[in-house]
Amino acid sequence: MTSQDVRKQFLEFFASKGHLIVPSAPIVLKDDPTLMFNNSGMAQFKEYFLGNGTPKSNRIADTQKCLRVSGKHNDLEDVGFDTYHHTMFEMLGNWSFGDYFKKEAINWAWELLTEVYKIPKENLYVSVFEGNPAENVPFDQEAWDIWAALIDEDRIILGNKKDNFWEMGDQGPCGPCSEIHVDIRSAEEKALVSGKSLVNNDHPQVVEIWNNVFMEFNRKADGSLEKLPAKHVDTGMGFERLCMALQGKTSNYDTDVFTPLIEKVEQITGFKYVDNAVTPSAVEEKTNIAIRVVVDHVRAVAFAIADGQLPSNTGAGYVIRRILRRAIRYGFTFLNTKEPFINQLVSVLANQMGEFFPEIKSQQQLVTNVIREEEASFLRTLDQGLQLLDKVIEEEKGTIIAGAKAFELYDTFGFPIDLTALILREKGFELDEAGFNAAMQEQKNRSRAASEVSTEDWSVLIPGNVESFVGYDQSESDVKITRIRKVDSKKDGILYQIVLDNTPFYPEGGGQVGDKGTLVSANETIEIIDTKKENNLILHFAKQLPENVNAGFVAKVNSDLRSLSSRNHSATHLMHQALRSILGTHVEQKGSLVNPNYLRFDFSHFAKMTETELQQVEDFVNARIQQQLPLIERRNIPFAQAVQEGAMALFGEKYGDEVRAIKFGESMELCGGIHVKNTAEIWHFKIVSEGAVAAGIRRIEAITSDAVKAHFASYENTLNEVKLALKNPQDILKAVHSMQEENAKLKKQMEQLLKEKIDGLKNKLLLEFYEINGVNVLDRRVDLSMSATKDLTQALGNAKPNSFVVLASVEDGLPNIHCYIAKELVEKKGLNANKVIKELGQYIDGNGGGQPFFASGKGKNVAGITEALNNVASILIRN
Ligand code: SER
Repeated sequence: MTSQDVRKQFLEFFASKGHLIVPSAPIVLKDDPTLMFNNSGMAQFKEYFLGNGTPKSNRIADTQKCLRVSGKHNDLEDVGFDTYHHTMFEMLGNWSFGDYFKKEAINWAWELLTEVYKIPKENLYVSVFEGNPAENVPFDQEAWDIWAALIDEDRIILGNKKDNFWEMGDQGPCGPCSEIHVDIRSAEEKALVSGKSLVNNDHPQVVEIWNNVFMEFNRKADGSLEKLPAKHVDTGMGFERLCMALQGKTSNYDTDVFTPLIEKVEQITGFKYVDNAVTPSAVEEKTNIAIRVVVDHVRAVAFAIADGQLPSNTGAGYVIRRILRRAIRYGFTFLNTKEPFINQLVSVLANQMGEFFPEIKSQQQLVTNVIREEEASFLRTLDQGLQLLDKVIEEEKGTIIAGAKAFELYDTFGFPIDLTALILREKGFELDEAGFNAAMQEQKNRSRAASEVSTEDWSVLIPGNVESFVGYDQSESDVKITRIRKVDSKKDGILYQIVLDNTPFYPEGGGQVGDKGTLVSANETIEIIDTKKENNLILHFAKQLPENVNAGFVAKVNSDLRSLSSRNHSATHLMHQALRSILGTHVEQKGSLVNPNYLRFDFSHFAKMTETELQQVEDFVNARIQQQLPLIERRNIPFAQAVQEGAMALFGEKYGDEVRAIKFGESMELCGGIHVKNTAEIWHFKIVSEGAVAAGIRRIEAITSDAVKAHFASYENTLNEVKLALKNPQDILKAVHSMQEENAKLKKQMEQLLKEKIDGLKNKLLLEFYEINGVNVLDRRVDLSMSATKDLTQALGNAKPNSFVVLASVEDGLPNIHCYIAKELVEKKGLNANKVIKELGQYIDGNGGGQPFFASGKGKNVAGITEALNNVASILIRN
C-alpha cells in the first residue's frame, strides 16, 4: 500500500463515519502567541474545545502538517539518531466536538487498524490512563472496559500522567488518553521478549502509532485543572509510522515517504544509505544518521517556506534557519557536501507530495531558491568558522580550548559546537565543554529573563459570549466587557487584555496593525493601545483597567490612525495588482505590513526592479487612484466562488468556507482588513525603496496620502535650502553644474601647483643631504600631505645614491613619518627602515612599519617630530 493510499483510506474511512474532511492548516501559526508552529492536529481546533467558537461540523477529520521543533513538544535533537522521530510529520486525526466520545473513538480506531488496514491484532497493544489522585483524575475505567471488549486484557497497559495524559502546552485543553502501539519485530524477537514490556520504552519497532485523547479539562495558568464545558475527542495518528507498519518496514525512512529523497541524496553525494533490514557498520551508521537528518529536515524547511515562513534571525524564521543549518552541517561533515545540495531535493518532494499539498508544487522554484541561498551563506559561515578555529588553535599554548572561545564561535558566527569539538579532536585538542556549557547557560538565562511573560487566567465576567466584530461598518459601538486577563512581561510591563461582547476594533492581521482607541464609560476613559487576535478572541490591550469593569462602555476606534492605515492597505492591493501585471503572475505576496505611516510588501520576484518598472508600478497605482474606484466589498461568499471569480488567495493563510473579498476595479483579493471606500482617499502613492529580503524575494516600501505630502514637503524644503546656499540662482541645476565645472578646473590647477611645489622642494632638499659614515642622510619636516610626503621620501631616496631619508609632516593635526634606505645600505650595513620607523615612532606616540627599504608610521604627538628627526643621525652613528 503506497503512502498516498494510506492517507486516502484514512480520510475515506472517517468520511464514511460522518466526518467533514478539511485541509491541513498551515504549518506556521499566526494568531496564537503560545505556539509558533502547528505541533498537533488539534492545534487549529483548540478554541472549539475551550468553547470560544463553533466548528463547521462536530465531526472533522484531516491530515495535518505538524512541526515539533520548539516549546513543549520538541524532537529536533533526536531526529536522525532513531528511525521514527521527525521534525515535520503528518498527523492523521479525527475529532468530535461535544459529539461522540470514548466508545465510538476506540471502536472506530480498532476497526480502521484491524479491518481496513488489516494490521494483525496480535501486533497491537493499547494503553489506558491509570489515574492521578493528586490531580483528582481517576483511572479511566470507561476506556478500559471498551478496550476489554475488543482485545485481550493482557494487551492493555496502564499508563501514568507522562504517557497517558495529553497536554498541548503549559496551559489549555487536555485530558486522559489511550494510545495504540504496534509491534513490528520479527517472530523470533517476539518469542524472546514480550512486546508488552517494550511499550513506551523507546524501542524502534514497538512504537506508538495513534493517540486517542479524551478532552475533558482545561489546564489553567496556576496549574490547576477545570472541567471543559463539553467532552471532546482528539485523535492523532503518526502517518509515517503507520506507513512503516503497513509497508512491512522497520524504519519510517524505509517507506516511500522517504526513499525517493534518500535516493536523490545518494545520487548527489555518492554515499549509500543502508536500510534497516541490514545492520550498518559504525561508519555506515554515521552516514545513515546524516542522510536521515537531511531528508527529514528538508521537508520541514520546504513546507514552512511554502507556507510563508522565510528563514530569518528571529522567532519562527530562526527555528527554520536552525533546522536547515543542522542539515547543512550534517551534510558538510558526514556526506562531504561543500556546495549547496539540499535545494535539489525540493523537486523530489514536490513530485511526491504536490498532489495532496499543492503549495509545495506551485512554489517549488521559490522554495528551491531560498534554500539554495541559505545553504550558500551558511557554507561560507562554516568556511569562515574553520579559519577562525585554526587561528584559535594556533594561538593556544596548551591542548585545551577555552569554552568561552568555542562559545564565541557558536554565538557570533553560528558555528556548530559539535563541529568545533570534532575538529578539535581530529587535531589533537580538547574542548573545555564545561566552560562552553556555562557560557551557553549564562546566555540562556539572560534571554529567558528578557522574554519572561506571566499570563494569568481569564476572569470571565460574562460567560458563554461569542464576540462579534462590527468594525467593517462602525468605528464606535456600545460594549460590555466579557473577560479580562493580566499579562506581566519583561518587555512590555503589566498589560491587561480585555475581551468585549462586540467590538469595532480591528485586530492585527493580514499585515495591518491593530486599532488603537478608547473605552469610554460615564465616569472614565481607558486607552486601548493595541488590538490583537488570539485564536478566536479579539484582545484589546490596556495599561490599566476601568474601576468599574461591569459598566457599559462606548468602544471608540482612533479613526485618524485607522484611516491612514486603510489608505496604505488599499494601496497595497493596487500595488500587488500592478506588480503582477507589470512583472508577471509569478509575483506572489510573501509578507506585508500596513500601518498609519507606510506600507511594506514582500513578494517573489527574481531580479532587482529597474527604475522604469518602479515608475510603471507607481503610475499604475496612481492611475487607479485618479479613477476614483469605489470599494466593492463582499462578505460571506463561498471560498471556491471567490477564487473562481479571480480573487487572490495566499499560501499559508487559513481561510474559512466563507470569505470576504475586496475589489477595486480589477483588483480582487481575499482580505479581512480595513479599506478606503474609494481609491481617491489614497490621494497619491509613492515608492520610497526597493530591495532584496532573501533569495528571490523583494521588498517594496511605499507611502500614501499625508506621508506623501510630508515626503514632498521635505524635498521642497531641502531644495529651498540648497537654493539659499547657492544664493538664489534662477536655475538651480545650472548653478550646480557650473559649480562642479569650476571645482574641476580648480582641482586641476591645484594639482599642477602642488606638483611644481614638490619639484621645487625636491630640488632644494637634494642640496641639503649631509654625510655620516659614507651614507647620504636627509631628515626634514615638510609642509605636505601624508601621501605627498611619502612620495617625496621615495623620490629623494631614488635620486641620491647611498641615501638614508627620513621625512615627516602633519596631516589633520596628526604626525606622520617615512623612511627610505638605499638597497645597498640595507644589504651591506644591515640597516632596516621598518626598525627605524618603529624606533622613531616612539617620539611621536605612534607606530607603523613596512619593508627594510621603505616604511611609514603615524602618531599622535606632533611636538615629538623634532626629537624623532634629531635622532636620525644617532641611528647611523650606531651602525
Ligand atoms: N493531540 C494528540 C497528539 O498530538 C492527539 O491528536 O498526540
